[in-house]
Amino acid sequence: MGYSIDFSNRHVFVAGGTSGINLGIAKGFAEAGARLSVLSRSQEKVDAAVETLSAIGQKAMGYSADVRDYEGVERALTTAHREQGDIDVLISGAAGNFPAAFLDMSPNGFRAVVDIDLIGTFHVLRVGHQFLKKPGASVINISAPQAYVAAPLQAHVCAAKAGVDMLTRVLALEWGEQGIRVNSLVPGPIEQTEGMARLAPTPEILDAVRESVPAKRLGQAQDIAQAALALASPLCEYINGAIIPVDGGWSLIGFGDMMRNMTTIYEQIRRK
Ligand code: NAP
Ligand code: COA
Repeated sequence: MGYSIDFSNRHVFVAGGTSGINLGIAKGFAEAGARLSVLSRSQEKVDAAVETLSAIGQKAMGYSADVRDYEGVERALTTAHREQGDIDVLISGAAGNFPAAFLDMSPNGFRAVVDIDLIGTFHVLRVGHQFLKKPGASVINISAPQAYVAAPLQAHVCAAKAGVDMLTRVLALEWGEQGIRVNSLVPGPIEQTEGMARLAPTPEILDAVRESVPAKRLGQAQDIAQAALALASPLCEYINGAIIPVDGGWSLIGFGDMMRNMTTIYEQIRRK
């Protein structure tokens, strides 16, 4: 049995792969030999990500599209397939978040997050399926602890990511016999990311979060990249339909102090 993780001659497509955790995942696969395709809205971020990934030494292509736009996603995935071949690993990680009380969310605000996280994942997987390597492909949805830990100020994300995890489970059932595995990775609090900047906006809150993690440290994008590499590799070929926390045990304790502190800040901002 070989234990090396080698993605040479593999094509990995990362929706939302131009910054933060998802770019970290893309870099991990590039370092393991894969050719990469990344998609996000900002052409500037797409160009920068392609430059970063190409510098690792593998071929990388980028596409500017909004995951809320089915035709845009279709154009990007069709071009990626034409240019880089069948997709071995398809990652859906585009997401949006802002803290807001339920009654401060406009219909458009709630919809924006559900559209990006949940409908966007539907679009990526619905279009992407025809381009997957069968058998053998691995689909990874990037979820969040909000999918199963209720958090104040996060009604939109909780609803959207719970939906994402259900898509994971349903597609594991529907696509299993085609040799396609579908799983969710659930990052915990990851240092120096947009997500954490929005939910832990002061050094004090960040310290409290770090202290609350049973592993006593914040995560790094690399922690999630390593989990994604292992999950997509033959080492994990019997894992299908799993929702896998990569969080140092954080989701076991709930959002606790982090969201209490955040709620205090939020009330102060609202009163201004
Ligand atoms: P991030 O840097 O903001 O990454 C989001 C990515 O998605 C960016 O590449 C962004 O690029 C893209 N994106 C956003 N809206 C899009 C849209 N409508 N269409 C296409 N692309 C879009 O955030 P992050 O904090 O690293 O989070 C990455 C993932 O990890 C998310 O799924 C998030 O829910 C999950 N997560 C994060 C944490 C954390 O601690 N940060 C914890 C748990 C889960 P553009 O702006 O160019 O579109
Ligand atoms: N509180 C309450 N409502 C907010 C808000 C906030 N902090 N930020 C945005 N909204 C509302 C807007 O007011 C708007 O509703 P309205 O039309 O009724 O006024 C709605 O959300 C959409 O905002 P808009 O800026 O037009 O959306 P967008 O599609 O350009 O951006 C977001 C989507 C809001 C999710 C934006 O934050 C984003 O692009 N995020 C991507 C990066 C990110 O969130 N990374 C972390 C991932 S965990």
